[in-house]
Amino acid sequence: MANDAVDPARRRLLAGTAGALGGVGLAAAAVPFVSSMQPSAKTQAAGAPVEVDIGKLAPGELMVVEWRRRPVWVLRRTQEELENLAKVPLDELRDPESAQSDQPGYAANEQRSIKPEYLVLLGVCTHLGCSPKYRPEVAAPDIGADWKGGFLCPCHGGRYDLAGRVFKGLPPPLNLPVPPYRYLSDTVLVIGEDQETV
Ligand code: FES
Repeated sequence: MANDAVDPARRRLLAGTAGALGGVGLAAAAVPFVSSMQPSAKTQAAGAPVEVDIGKLAPGELMVVEWRRRPVWVLRRTQEELENLAKVPLDELRDPESAQSDQPGYAANEQRSIKPEYLVLLGVCTHLGCSPKYRPEVAAPDIGADWKGGFLCPCHGGRYDLAGRVFKGLPPPLNLPVPPYRYLSDTVLVIGEDQETV
């Protein structure tokens, strides 16, 4: 995967892949560009931390990593996405401060991440466990003119912003969880291991 400019078609493909993973169960072969990062079956079974190379992840791209047999997303947010995230009206969110939601202390901030650019989320809807789809298009026609990009759950219409914070008035009760993670280097993440306890 080339580390080049944002390609909208590629972004859609990646977003679709994220959704498909949740719908049919995890299948590493369906995500060839991250397959080399997949841990061994033995590692997965043990629930061990997973190292992820994010060095080639382009701005706007989302990759899916399997950890403990669940999809974990790593989204490299663009500067525009971060600016749009800051425009989300907090009174439209169910838990804007993530007070009721699950994330490590170092991700309990507006971006819900260690570094604003990289978002790490468990890609499992907090309603009934579907996998929401990455929908970065601002004012997407099928979502609404106010849409500033985020994640849409196809099962019952749950919506999350670009920090995984859920909107009010929809079935999901909580923000998408942030798993424990830390940076091994600027380009390598370890998912499943807490920087506070290493
Ligand atoms: S499972 Fe996502 S909205 Fe119901």
